[in-house]
Amino acid sequence: MFDIHVATTADKPALYEDLAGMLSGLLSGERDMVANTANLSALLFHSLPDLNWAGVYLLRGGELVLGPFQGKPACVRIALGRGVCGTAAARRESVLVPDVHAFPGHIACDAASRSELVVPLLLGDRVLGVIDLDSPLPDRFDAADQAGVERLAALLVAGCDWSPVG
Ligand code: SME
Repeated sequence: MFDIHVATTADKPALYEDLAGMLSGLLSGERDMVANTANLSALLFHSLPDLNWAGVYLLRGGELVLGPFQGKPACVRIALGRGVCGTAAARRESVLVPDVHAFPGHIACDAASRSELVVPLLLGDRVLGVIDLDSPLPDRFDAADQAGVERLAALLVAGCDWSPVG
């Protein structure tokens, strides 16, 4: 059994410190990317407040393909450069969208989503995929969320065998 213990959700650096510790524990002794991205998705969805979707898209055959997630069923394939996810992957940098209605090309998988944070999974220059977080609240994510999720992304990348991705 795995219990989620976060000190507080108000102090974001402390929250992400807790999450980094829990993710390190989940990754310990296991390098399967499906298992580890599934556990990352569950950890994020159940510990970050005000999310309606948390998961990953993984690069396969030159496009992003839906991977493990928590939330409603979502669009399966996203071309590089399309939507928030494809933009983050193509730019190899995080994209923080305070209002998805104001982001040209946003792909609406869940009509409830109002703001979004997408962080690429990078192994050096190689894009492996993205972590995607959606919230029903506008302006839900800030620089502290971005820094925290980028740290989790780095832990995830270091903790998996990515040979099935590409
Ligand atoms: N909104 C994303 C699509 C994925 S869903 O949010 C799960 C995008 O614009 O890329």
